[in-house]
Amino acid sequence: MQPKLKSKVRCADRAVGEVTRIIVDPLSREVSHIVVGDGAGALERQIPAAQVETVTEDAVQLRGTSSEMAQFPAFQREGYVTIREVEIAHLEDHLHVEPGEVLVPVPELERNVKRRTFFTNFTHAIGFLLALPLAFPVLKYVMKPMYAPFDNRWIKIGNAGKVKTEDVGVQFKFKKSVKEAFMPEAEVDKNVWVLKASPAVLEGVYKGKDLEFKDHSGQVIWTNKRDVPYVAYSGKCPHLGCGYKWRNVPKLGRQIFLCPCHLSIYDPSGKVLDGPAPRPLDPVPIRVAANGDIEIIDVEFKAGTRAQVRIV
Ligand code: FES
Repeated sequence: MQPKLKSKVRCADRAVGEVTRIIVDPLSREVSHIVVGDGAGALERQIPAAQVETVTEDAVQLRGTSSEMAQFPAFQREGYVTIREVEIAHLEDHLHVEPGEVLVPVPELERNVKRRTFFTNFTHAIGFLLALPLAFPVLKYVMKPMYAPFDNRWIKIGNAGKVKTEDVGVQFKFKKSVKEAFMPEAEVDKNVWVLKASPAVLEGVYKGKDLEFKDHSGQVIWTNKRDVPYVAYSGKCPHLGCGYKWRNVPKLGRQIFLCPCHLSIYDPSGKVLDGPAPRPLDPVPIRVAANGDIEIIDVEFKAGTRAQVRIV
């Protein structure tokens, strides 16, 4: 009878645990060792089959005492594979052990892992080098939109004659042709809010400094002068990008920009008065011609961030 998994193991003087694994010699197809553990996951010892004195239905009796058993080596799992991982014909049929952790030693060739790993990596490297010229044009095409330069075109949005009252927001709508990634170019509706700002509001917007706008390369493309009264804000709320409105709020006794999405409130200088907006409204580049025509560059910044990060 062959030892079984989970059979109790006794030495001459006391019980020492149970059979946790069985090791089979793949050539002779006989059990060569049993692995004995205390069942609590502690140290397991690999005991040669010759050390087994008797085997009954549910117990294995070893020769010698428990202190002699302690001389046998600790079991090293990495030196073995289960019999299901190796294809040795009829090995399972031949064994009369319960299915479970029945192991055979890792074949000698397989042990040379470093060498095998080197050849595997070498093959992968060759494959990568061969695939690179094919993949490069595809990658370039896919990634092109990510590195496209910003659109710095000036767009005429209307005339300053429409902005009659100081510090009152006036919405200017315009159409812009946009090319999104791989989609065909399309016209989209956009808007900005323009103010003819009083000196106090101008101070709130510019804080005494001209405002520079930069290209994707970091080059300054335009500077809003702090003494030019016309200010234009991007039509997108800096919180999550919703459209906002100019509202007269009698309860506050003032006029404000109100974003209905999450109720962010901004004063005419764009400063956040209330709500979750992480930064003031975003001024955009603006220039006003002698005849009053207003042009802007439709820059956009990432929503939800404290800092302005240009994305368009
Ligand atoms: S998007 Fe404007 S407050 Fe949330």
